Amino acid sequence: MISVEIDSLLLLLGFSLAFIHFTVPLTYYLYLKRRWLWRPWNIKRDPGYKPRVTVIVPTYNEARLINKKLDDLARQNYPRELLEILVIDSASIDGTVEKVEEWVRRNNGLRIHVLRESVRRGKAYALNNALKHADGEIVVITDVDATWGSENTLSEALSWFSDPGVGAVTCLKQPANKGSGEVEEGYREFYNIVRLAESKAYSTPVFHGELAVFRKELLEKIGGFPTDIGADDSHTATRIALMGYRSIAANNIICIEKVPHRGYHDWRIRRAQHLVQHFIKTLGLLRRAPRIFKPTLIVETLLHLVNPWLLLASILILLYLTATNHVPAIIFLVLGASLLILKPFRTWVATQTYLIAASLRNMWTKEIVWRKQEKR
Ligand code: GDD
Ligand code: MN
Repeated sequence: MISVEIDSLLLLLGFSLAFIHFTVPLTYYLYLKRRWLWRPWNIKRDPGYKPRVTVIVPTYNEARLINKKLDDLARQNYPRELLEILVIDSASIDGTVEKVEEWVRRNNGLRIHVLRESVRRGKAYALNNALKHADGEIVVITDVDATWGSENTLSEALSWFSDPGVGAVTCLKQPANKGSGEVEEGYREFYNIVRLAESKAYSTPVFHGELAVFRKELLEKIGGFPTDIGADDSHTATRIALMGYRSIAANNIICIEKVPHRGYHDWRIRRAQHLVQHFIKTLGLLRRAPRIFKPTLIVETLLHLVNPWLLLASILILLYLTATNHVPAIIFLVLGASLLILKPFRTWVATQTYLIAASLRNMWTKEIVWRKQEKR
């Protein structure tokens, strides 16, 4: 009798945890979509605004992709005299620097400097080094494996800075090739809507290394990029939003990102590790957040740090009940498992798995200096 009651309570608990796990993000998504996605920006954007800009390209063993990256930068229609490019290399051993020097010899007209570190200490450390040499009022960070949507991308991104209230700008992302089981694509559709709507509401706490633009003066104010965590882009943008400046993902800027063909799961876990580190580090600053930013920050923190564990707990409870031949638990589990044929559901569950793996992995390595994944 008592064990039947405990089983029912456990079933209720398992069911509730799963219910919370799915309804919180879904409600947040629908709220953002209905309430904010179609709103005006409330930003005075001047498409003709042309500040002095420094583009920083961090490199570690990028010999295979660096030419294409520099070509992509060179086709930007931004005035040459206002544009400076800094390539900061951390002891690459595949001839990256030689490739850059060769490219510079072939292409004149672009102001480009190569900085070399003799020891590799990670991307953020290198960015801070480059920052000391940057002469632009605006600083753009861009990864080598990222292609910008068009030759207007840089102009479009910078035009937002005509409004002094804008502190940081990033792109929306489009995967270049499909990751394992077309998960990457579905993941992006959902998150682009979330990032855009959060930005319209005020700011988004998640930025992209493919194109992250910052007001240099604000970067200096916060002491540069954080070197104790991996998410240099997202954390820096969040710090700027916490200071009262908008940090936005804009819909007129698209980045196309290469997805690794091998080691896709490791790659997703490492990036999830960086996001988890970012949200943990942000916890201490939550109290100081502008009122309009607090709900976004709280929900995103919960979604990254707590929500995945609710799903895991629910599954474990149901598995336990299944082992005791509890019929409703079996039905519930089978139903849940069969939903995996739906792509959005599969994508969602995969992301939760990466976040859980990331939190665990963070306990022994923070991946500040990470293994390079081959991308085609
Ligand atoms: N100078 C320097 N030193 N550059 C580095 C180092 C380093 O130690 N490690 C990586 N890089 C460069 C790479 O050459 C590339 O241009 C860029 O930093 C990003 O590295 P990827 O290996 O392509 O990283 P990712 O695509 O998995 O991760 C990116 O996105 C994450 C989430 O948006 C990075 O931007 C991460 O910082 C970011 O958290
Ligand atoms: Mn990358």
